[in-house]
Amino acid sequence: MTEQDRMIRAEFPILKDRDIIYLDNAATSQKPPCVVEAEARYYTMNNANPMRGLYELSLDATNAYEDARRVTAEFIGAKEMEEVIFTRNASESLNLVAYAYGRSVLSEGDEVICSVMEHHSNILPWQMCAKEKGAHVTYMECDPDGKLRPEVLARMISEKTKIVALTQVSNVFGCKNDIREFARIAHEAGAVFVCDGAQSVPHIPVDVQELDVDFLAFSGHKMFAPMGIGVLYGKRALLEDMPPFLYGGEMIEYVTLDGATYAEVPHKFEAGTVNVGGAVGLAEAIRFMQRFGWKRICGREDELTAYAMEGMRRIPHIRIIGDVDPGNHHGILTFVVDGVHPHDVATIFSAHGIAVRAGHHCAQPLHKFLGSLSTTRASLAFYNTKDDIDAFLDVLGQIRGQMGY
Ligand code: ALA
Repeated sequence: MTEQDRMIRAEFPILKDRDIIYLDNAATSQKPPCVVEAEARYYTMNNANPMRGLYELSLDATNAYEDARRVTAEFIGAKEMEEVIFTRNASESLNLVAYAYGRSVLSEGDEVICSVMEHHSNILPWQMCAKEKGAHVTYMECDPDGKLRPEVLARMISEKTKIVALTQVSNVFGCKNDIREFARIAHEAGAVFVCDGAQSVPHIPVDVQELDVDFLAFSGHKMFAPMGIGVLYGKRALLEDMPPFLYGGEMIEYVTLDGATYAEVPHKFEAGTVNVGGAVGLAEAIRFMQRFGWKRICGREDELTAYAMEGMRRIPHIRIIGDVDPGNHHGILTFVVDGVHPHDVATIFSAHGIAVRAGHHCAQPLHKFLGSLSTTRASLAFYNTKDDIDAFLDVLGQIRGQMGY
């Protein structure tokens, strides 16, 4: 372990004190004490219901929540902090867009375009609202190595297409899609572009203005923040035109027994008591990432991905899903061990104290497209080390032997 490894590991007691090599970061990341403490500090020293009280504690809670919004908005390059809506997670963010925006613009015969590599969270909300409106969802296919080609979208898109919804980084291939180009094609055809950033925002710099996406969804828990806090970015003009998603406390301007007018963006979309502790934790997680800096985060993740792929290629009967270029994996290594069920693979890893994920990774249509029911996935974060990868490769090399081959 290098000095830098040791310094980074010191920020994650779970990796030091539990006997585990954690390679399931695409599912959720570990949390540094500074994040847990920021949330705990809020609850122990500053807790009150925000935006309702006129007393100091409540005003402080409101300030903490809005400060978290500002930090998050700056992190993704939003023009205004009001363009950031706090949700529970990326899934809820995508449901919000489908429910509030999708249902208000789609009508009979219209179309939403997704891709076969989407997470279920970027498929099901569109299927549901398309079905309700007599519209339909069509899917761009990718190359078998995960390349999603802009020319495919350009061929498919038409005046019937109202929404294009694509992931920036696939949770199975790890590949990065050219979101700027896809958004350009969508806009040229008059469609709105929705980006699923669940696997990109924690690992690469994402700037919503540079990408020119209309909506961006991501989760806090994959980027060192607590579970239960997520983000929907939306361009202000679109958010202002959208009806609310959930109805209730603090999302209104005025209520009568016959109806209501609604609060300004973003409060219109944040009904009920909000997750201030989670938002404070997310802001601290962002500051934590900024302290390390993208250069170090991306540098370490890229180096480890290349090192792992090189080792995996040397082991016979291992098939890595996706691009041959480790630079297009963003820490995600999904693979098949010939003749061994992914659940057996993950169980053998677990017996050696290594956490990987096995199954369809909430991407069943992609697995069908690839012709396999399930796969195993190792996913990295910048706190992983070469020692972690060596241990992973060592076990990977033994699996077929242990299964009697
Ligand atoms: N979406 C998460 C994953 O890919 C849970 O594992």
